[in-house]
Amino acid sequence: MVTRRVDLRSDTVTKPTEKMRAAMANAEVDDDVLGYDPTAARLESEMARIMGKEAALFVPSGTMANLICVLTHCQIRGSEVILGDYSHIHIYENGGISTIGGVHPRTVKNNEDGTMDINLIEEAIRDPSFEICYPTTRLICLENSHAHSGGRCLSAEYTDQVGELAKKYGLKLHIDGARIFNASVALGVPVHRLVQAADSVTACLSKGLGAPAGTVIAGSKPFIAKAKILRKTLGGAMRQVGVICAAALVALEENVGKLESDHKKAKILAEGINNIKGLKVDLASVETNIVYFDILEDLGITEEKLFKNLEAYGVLVMPEGPRKIRLVLHHQISESDVQYTLSCIQKVVSGRLPGEPLRSTLSTLATSDRRDRLCGSAAVDITRRGVAQVKL
Ligand SMILES: Cc1ncc(COP(=O)(O)O)c(C=O)c1O
Repeated sequence: MVTRRVDLRSDTVTKPTEKMRAAMANAEVDDDVLGYDPTAARLESEMARIMGKEAALFVPSGTMANLICVLTHCQIRGSEVILGDYSHIHIYENGGISTIGGVHPRTVKNNEDGTMDINLIEEAIRDPSFEICYPTTRLICLENSHAHSGGRCLSAEYTDQVGELAKKYGLKLHIDGARIFNASVALGVPVHRLVQAADSVTACLSKGLGAPAGTVIAGSKPFIAKAKILRKTLGGAMRQVGVICAAALVALEENVGKLESDHKKAKILAEGINNIKGLKVDLASVETNIVYFDILEDLGITEEKLFKNLEAYGVLVMPEGPRKIRLVLHHQISESDVQYTLSCIQKVVSGRLPGEPLRSTLSTLATSDRRDRLCGSAAVDITRRGVAQVKL
């Protein structure tokens, strides 16, 4: 029986710490829709300070935060936004900017490092003299760190260049900074410097920072005033929200300092996986807390099987498309969890499942048996076949 659980599905899976729970229990609260919650106000002013912007606004999620920002920048019908073809806003947010906001997305190829070529962004900006046919470009969106490229970081210099381009054409710049603290720590550059060129930025509190919920939007005072109205329209304004904000304040205090160690563990995990025959990690892509690995074809195991068989060991990961797996580090993963994960991946790749004493037992079985063993109900199958259970 495997009792250990190592949850690497995402950095969103963390549980509130004791200190967060105590802060939530004791939070000073009031009606935040009316603008009276003191804990929400404290969190918002702290986040505005960290992000170097005039004001900030707490919203329930990163998805809502991005939607509010895009819609606040694009209030005129026929607006178009330029964003990466692998950006979170474009791929994973239900197309909300168009389905809810009526904003037209224009994608530019994301490079492997999460950037978009500046010349391609410039080429994607619509010529206003042909507005009889074209939508009007109003906004450029960046994502830092860039989740789909493995949590890679956009430098302040690159962001400044995009900001200059935006200014040249009278456009706004938004940064989806769901993991901007990870980028800041990895680059050794303060958050406010990384987002200096942006007109709006979002930062998730419920990812690497480990708070149970919430994202903060930061920008100018007039921008945040408009964003606040949209938050209400979308149903994101909450009453005694200080209960959640209290945990987020603890997250800022307790967990920013742990991100560096998460990044180190990600590197150890990545190197370990890359040393396992049949698996491949692009080590250069591991800049923060996300690790992607590829399953080489020779291994003859799908991402679905690998994921299921790791689950049998209590190691939870995320299949990410054909022959690809994603693992995300967070403050509730220890060095020993990393070593355990590596040993489990090694075992699964060698065709061994929990409860199996020796690899040789497997190799004596017929191929069809082996196939059964490697599928989802593996642990049940093994027991049914009477193979001795060995505690891991
Ligand atoms: C880069 C990025 N942006 C935005 C989001 C959306 O955040 P939420 O899940 O809080 O809606 C995510 C979520 O994983 C993300 O990775």
